[in-house]
Amino acid sequence: MSDDSQPVRLVVLISGSGSNLQAIIDATRSGQIPAQIAAVVSNRPGVKGLERAKQAGIPARVLDHTEFDGREAFDRALMAQIDEFSPDLVVLAGFMRILTPTFANHYAGRMLNIHPSLLPKYQGLNTHQRVLDAGDREHGVTVHFVTAELDGGPPAVQARLAVRPGDDAAALASRVQRQEHRIYPLAIQWFAQGRLRMHNGQSLLDGEPLPASGYLIETEAD
Ligand code: GAR
Repeated sequence: MSDDSQPVRLVVLISGSGSNLQAIIDATRSGQIPAQIAAVVSNRPGVKGLERAKQAGIPARVLDHTEFDGREAFDRALMAQIDEFSPDLVVLAGFMRILTPTFANHYAGRMLNIHPSLLPKYQGLNTHQRVLDAGDREHGVTVHFVTAELDGGPPAVQARLAVRPGDDAAALASRVQRQEHRIYPLAIQWFAQGRLRMHNGQSLLDGEPLPASGYLIETEAD
């Protein structure tokens, strides 16, 4: 955490479109998130999120994982790249890489991820289709602290929405994404304000343990 004279510094990791990055950029600009984005790092060249960073005047770097000899080597280089910017918080925003325990542990308590499911349900990929295949009545998205377990760290904020008759994966993805763009800035805002913390493997808000779902937002998503 920065002292009072230094703004909280974020490094945002992306792999693609960067719509969550855009929501975070907008929330730093509006003053909702009292922090600055020190850098954006993508593991894929040429993605739209890099363009968004450039448009916003944020330093953007590419570290192409295909150019590294294995996960350990990539994660070591990624840590070095991130740490050049001295972040208080690392924000995974559609960063589609499995992290080594070394990487996860290095940023323990100062790294958040967003995952499009009601964790602990549906860790991994294709969450919207899996929700439909299972006939679930509700779905949603979770912001959580990152630990060495894939999509397994303690939830901080979760938004729930109803699955509607006739929904397909694209319709669900679109409603879930609208919620992503609300709850990720909110979680980062709370972290930057010093209100949200991970302690002993639990998420705390204002010093109080959050429920297993994280702070819950029930929504009738439009
Ligand atoms: C988001 O829907 C995010 O929840 C998901 O990737 C998308 C990135 O979109 N992340 C994961 O599935 C992580 N396991 P964006 O690039 O437009 O922000």
